[in-house]
Amino acid sequence: MSVQDTVKRVLLSLQDSIRAKRLQVADHLRSETQVRADPQALEQVLFNLLDNAVKHIPPGAWIFLRDKSLDGAVRIEVEDSGPGIAEEHRQRLFERFYRVDPGRSRELGGTGLGLAIVKDLCVAMGGDVGMEPAYPKGSLFWLTLDAAPTRPSDDKQEETATPRQDHAEKASS
Ligand SMILES: Nc1ncnc2c1ncn2[C@@H]1O[C@H](COP(=O)(O)OP(=O)(O)O)[C@@H](O)[C@H]1O
Ligand SMILES: [Mg+2]
Repeated sequence: MSVQDTVKRVLLSLQDSIRAKRLQVADHLRSETQVRADPQALEQVLFNLLDNAVKHIPPGAWIFLRDKSLDGAVRIEVEDSGPGIAEEHRQRLFERFYRVDPGRSRELGGTGLGLAIVKDLCVAMGGDVGMEPAYPKGSLFWLTLDAAPTRPSDDKQEETATPRQDHAEKASS
């Protein structure tokens, strides 16, 4: 599963709200990143996280997307420059029906189920999810999933290319 392709589809489905709020999306996802995931589950997870970001941050704020390789796994981050989530709420954030501000969440059409679904789906896929404060403010939601081997076409390219020799030649000249 390509993380970048999935995110592109999700962003497309949110583009009206993104435009209306003039949100800035910085997509630093690497095109080659592949994860072992159920396609619909991954799309749902990324939709819930991005939908939250779009709903809960003020006009003109930022959303940053990036992925990092861990040992055999991939960490996907959805960070925003919004109000963040106070520490006392962080423990219960992924519980069903938990909302920081129930009145406001309801106004935004929320049920408090989004993050519980994110957690269930990630755990079902063998991964995990969490939230940290962003710097200097905002929320950083992360999820981890098993890395998937690159596609066969990529493997072929790797076989024919000889990047190491290229480097060696450059270094010695
Ligand atoms: N990116 C975010 N910035 C600020 N608050 C957030 C963010 N994402 C989630 N929250 C808070 O966490 C609560 C739970 O999120 P979620 O489970 O998706 O429920 P909801 O249906 O309210 O969106 C939200 O009500 C909101 O208060
Ligand atoms: Mg939500």
